[in-house]
Amino acid sequence: MLRLRLDKFISERTDYSRSQIKTLAGQGSISLNGEIVKKTDCKIDPDSDEIFVCNQKVRNDFNRYIILNKPDGYVSSTDNNDGISVLELVPPDMKTKGLFPAGRLDKDSLGLVLITNDGALAHKILAPKNHIPKIYIVKLAKPFQSKYVDLFWNGIVLGDGEQCLPARVRSVENCENLAFVELHEGKYHQVKRMFAAVDNHVDKLMRISVGGLVLPEKLASGDCMELLHKDVENLFRPLDFDRFCENFFSQFSAIPINK
Ligand code: URA
Repeated sequence: MLRLRLDKFISERTDYSRSQIKTLAGQGSISLNGEIVKKTDCKIDPDSDEIFVCNQKVRNDFNRYIILNKPDGYVSSTDNNDGISVLELVPPDMKTKGLFPAGRLDKDSLGLVLITNDGALAHKILAPKNHIPKIYIVKLAKPFQSKYVDLFWNGIVLGDGEQCLPARVRSVENCENLAFVELHEGKYHQVKRMFAAVDNHVDKLMRISVGGLVLPEKLASGDCMELLHKDVENLFRPLDFDRFCENFFSQFSAIPINK
């Protein structure tokens, strides 16, 4: 049976911080199975214990939001039919029923994948009409050319004639084979096909943001991190592409694609 610390249980399922929970407990506003608890470091059973904070029941069936720094070789699907699923990388203490990756990265792509059991949120992120931007850093086979900026902004036509929405692209100072790309849609192999359309080739691709959610530098490849409710809201506060790219290397010292 999984047992959790009471303060962890409450903070993960509400907007109360650990220090607010401590204060509320001191004021007698937290109860466990009908008894007021003044200390919140005790262990509880999330499935059977009843917890109230300020007379509100804390529900256990909460949504889970996990950021994965996807390594090469894992597939963004829920089963292992096409290869090992990214869900295999979710550690047991973060696992819950109904998790799935909200958005796809190719098997050989790296970086940010949001894993959740919140279907409504995933729909909001993926719905084309919401245009949630995603930023990638790519390693190109041939040097970046300044003409890409206008070509991408005017909407690339892919090899099969499919028209892309305007996208932003920019070079990386002193690294002629690296580029940042921002897309507002998610066609199959889109970044790779966009560079193929301008006679280049993507050797490696890493997603570094979705909406305003940025891959944390400290999150090692293959590791997962759970998000709080308030972090999830960042998804809908997009970044300033140019400012983000300009500051990127002051935050990310080692980019695994630049080997
Ligand atoms: N575009 C691609 O080509 N591949 C990805 O994994 C993501 C975007």
